[in-house]
Amino acid sequence: MAGQLSRATREQIRAANDIVEVIGSYLPLKRAGANFVALCPFHKEKTPSFNVNPQRQVFHCFGCHAGGDVFEFVKQYENIDFPEAVRRLAERARIPLTYEKSDPGSYGRPLKEQLLQIHEQIAQRWQNALASEAAGQLARDYLAQRGVSAEAIQLFRLGAAPDLWDDTVNWAKSKGYELSLVEQAGLILRRTEGDGYYDRFRRRLMFPICDEQGRVIGFSGRVLPGDEKAPKYVNSPETPIFTKSKVFFGLDKSRRAVLDAGYAVICEGQLDLIAAYMAGVQNVVAPLGTAFTADHARILRRYVTEVVSCFDSDEAGQTAAVRSLDSLLESGLAVRVAVVPSPHDPDSFIRAFGSAAFKQLIEGAEGFFDYYLHRLCATNEVASDKGRLAVLRSMAEAVYKTGNAVLVDKYAQKTALRLGVTPDAVRAEFGKFSRSKTVRPEAAEESAPETAGPQKPSPSEFWLLKILLLHDDLVEWAAAHLDPAWVEHPVARQIIAQRLAAQTNQTWLSLADFLDECDSPEMRSLVTEATTENRAIPNPSQQLKDIATRLRNQSIDRQLVALMQRAHQPETNEADRLELLRQQQELRHCKRQPIQG
Ligand code: CTP
Ligand code: MN
Repeated sequence: MAGQLSRATREQIRAANDIVEVIGSYLPLKRAGANFVALCPFHKEKTPSFNVNPQRQVFHCFGCHAGGDVFEFVKQYENIDFPEAVRRLAERARIPLTYEKSDPGSYGRPLKEQLLQIHEQIAQRWQNALASEAAGQLARDYLAQRGVSAEAIQLFRLGAAPDLWDDTVNWAKSKGYELSLVEQAGLILRRTEGDGYYDRFRRRLMFPICDEQGRVIGFSGRVLPGDEKAPKYVNSPETPIFTKSKVFFGLDKSRRAVLDAGYAVICEGQLDLIAAYMAGVQNVVAPLGTAFTADHARILRRYVTEVVSCFDSDEAGQTAAVRSLDSLLESGLAVRVAVVPSPHDPDSFIRAFGSAAFKQLIEGAEGFFDYYLHRLCATNEVASDKGRLAVLRSMAEAVYKTGNAVLVDKYAQKTALRLGVTPDAVRAEFGKFSRSKTVRPEAAEESAPETAGPQKPSPSEFWLLKILLLHDDLVEWAAAHLDPAWVEHPVARQIIAQRLAAQTNQTWLSLADFLDECDSPEMRSLVTEATTENRAIPNPSQQLKDIATRLRNQSIDRQLVALMQRAHQPETNEADRLELLRQQQELRHCKRQPIQG
């Protein structure tokens, strides 16, 4: 499954990418004994159960059982396939990849890479146009008038698309690009009449949209004065490298600050984000004019447990903003709300009142449910039963979205206090809602996903795994004396069989390499659990022999039980019964023999 790249090259890339350094560039890792730990990026948790084992170069989460080597981490974290993860880590270590000619597709210059290159180059082209060309004058004037600094323009790589139908088309031709490729990049469109193409972005202020590594993957173009009929923003369409619902504008620049602050500030627009960032509130992200999606929430949860959402103060804006929060509330992120007073958005607020005032607004943001309760009480007639009921129902609906029983109870009380009714009355009303909605039990997400088959390996099987995966010098003996069939747990059995086979066939390289050869996530998870868990193995050589004997005998016992059951079945005839008895005696004899060696 490891593709066409040679195993040796893969080893070389792995050796050049220390797992602690790589994971450490995504998450803050803390030393804990022999391992490093962090909050797991793959599931929701409050105490760190994500471990990185520097010695074995593997990671394992004891909460959700994710585990693997450095490639597996990058693959899962970045949500990319294995060859792409290998490619990125090769790039990081500056190791040139040699491809096998037979398969240009898998490691050859893939479409995505070509699209990235086009994006990078056109971004530079538009930056230059803004910086110094006559075609950039309109955009320059506009930015000056809006007070966007030269520093911000440079940092966010703003650009100007000239007022022409074929500027990008001609640029692409001059660069030797296939126009169909540039069309796939979303930068030009095919004419509906006649041949040829025309530019998507014309006469616009250009905002490059970057992935989390800072590579340009799309654009958002703002209308400039004098073009009032045109839509305010034109964005890149979905392309192989750009999915609007999974990208935040600015996250490539803000991720460090987001991690440091422990929460992310969500603004609506690019210019708001830039203004906040330049004002010193750098832990900001902006979805691209779409509703906040579950994917967005998932991305943020890799960094933080809390977000502050900036709301406009006008009525329509707040109603829309509340509605847009569903995915956020459902994601388990704690949500606070900063209401930017009318008629401002963050950008104009900062210009009017300064960055200190904006920081205050963010830091003082109240919890979403407190905000929402105030708002409901302000917009409903709470003196009447009808109004109170409306408040109750809306609160219940919102709180139940979190699926968090503790929050439900807390806000039942707060709502009661606010409405001047008894908490029990509110709970009863909330209860009606819960029956129609179903609350997830608290912390449901913190528990591990279900796995099929016998749940866990026995303690002996687990220790055996540890010994065979951590003590290479003992595997030779095991390969000669131990039968994987003795192991009852199917996944453990498969791992042990594969480990012993690697010994016999002399294909063992390293634990991390072995992981790449495991073809199920269950296998990988058990391998990393056994090797990351930090109980030491006292006297491993003796233990191995003891465990092997124990597992063999348990296996014999299971066979004995099966034989006895068959012997006692009414349809078994006398001859068969005698044969079964003979087999039992043989097994009992076997059980008394020590394992040789
Ligand atoms: N947006 C969009 N398409 C539109 C309008 C808006 O994609 N037709 C997105 C953009 O990402 C924009 C955000 O929604 O930044 C917020 O829109 P709006 O508040 O209208 O724009 P501002 O960011 O405030 O831009 P400006 O300050 O220049 O008006
Ligand atoms: Mn604005």
